[in-house]
Amino acid sequence: MKAIQINGKTIAEALRARVARDVALLQTECNVTPGLAVVLVGEDPASSVYVKMKARQAHAVGFRSQQFLLPSNVYEADLLGLIDELNADDSIDGLLVQLPLPGHIDLWRVLEAINPAKDVDGFHPYNVGRLAAGRPALVPCTPLGIVHLIKTVVSDLNGQDVVVIGRSNIVGKPLALLLGDAGCTVTGAQLQTRNLPDLCRKSDIVVAAAGCAGLVRGDWLKPGAIVIDVGINRALDSTGTAKIVGDVAFAEASKRASYITPVPGGVGPMTVAYLLANTVNAAVSRRGLSLAMDREARHVGPSCLREQSLEVDLQRAT
Ligand code: GUN
Repeated sequence: MKAIQINGKTIAEALRARVARDVALLQTECNVTPGLAVVLVGEDPASSVYVKMKARQAHAVGFRSQQFLLPSNVYEADLLGLIDELNADDSIDGLLVQLPLPGHIDLWRVLEAINPAKDVDGFHPYNVGRLAAGRPALVPCTPLGIVHLIKTVVSDLNGQDVVVIGRSNIVGKPLALLLGDAGCTVTGAQLQTRNLPDLCRKSDIVVAAAGCAGLVRGDWLKPGAIVIDVGINRALDSTGTAKIVGDVAFAEASKRASYITPVPGGVGPMTVAYLLANTVNAAVSRRGLSLAMDREARHVGPSCLREQSLEVDLQRAT
């Protein structure tokens, strides 16, 4: 078997186009332009790249987009002061602080300072709790992107056995909740899980989000499994050149899986696309506009977050 690659780049592009259409509708019908503020503390190279990408894509779909770059030695009180200002600024609908933060700053004090209605990362305990309770919430972007990718290749998630490797607040925990709500039987695993290879072999869908390069081997997979690789790890190839690799041994896994996401170009682009979708959602919900926008389609919420006829873009793994 040769797995088919799930092309996150083009699927994310289609989602961004829907977001752009929603933004145009919000502007013409409601005179609202969604605003996204992204705060970066310090100069971590990877974080700087992500923040620039978020700002660029926000601008491209028609948002008002602002970046706040603070020095790595900023006082926590000053960061909290900036968050208070952005919370109070009515032109800002979505607000995120790029992680990780320098060690002298208390992560939870920062996350809990963000107005939950503007928490487009979905990291505030208010939104975490609402997601866990099955209530409408702002939901973390990477898990939303992963569910979207899975739905492009599985028509019915009911009864699917899924293993999620990794229990982070950003990916593993919220993803397990979303997939459970969708009818999957989800096992939350981690590096210490006993018999991890056997657990994977019993699973229809394997999501690797442990931050461990090449962890999931080809012979860990049930033939025909769906493999979602969330890892972004720096590694050296055989010539000593640095490259980005996932948590899955891609070449081996491609021989057993039916569908697989590449790294890069799989899950990564979906995260930013859902940040944009969440920002439209926040702009709409904060103003109680959802029904007005969706009157014709009789749907609640912006079209970019609706149950979709998902555009599939697949290509044979080479
Ligand atoms: N760092 C790694 N992923 C994320 C994310 O999704 N949001 C934020 N704010 N920081 C991150």
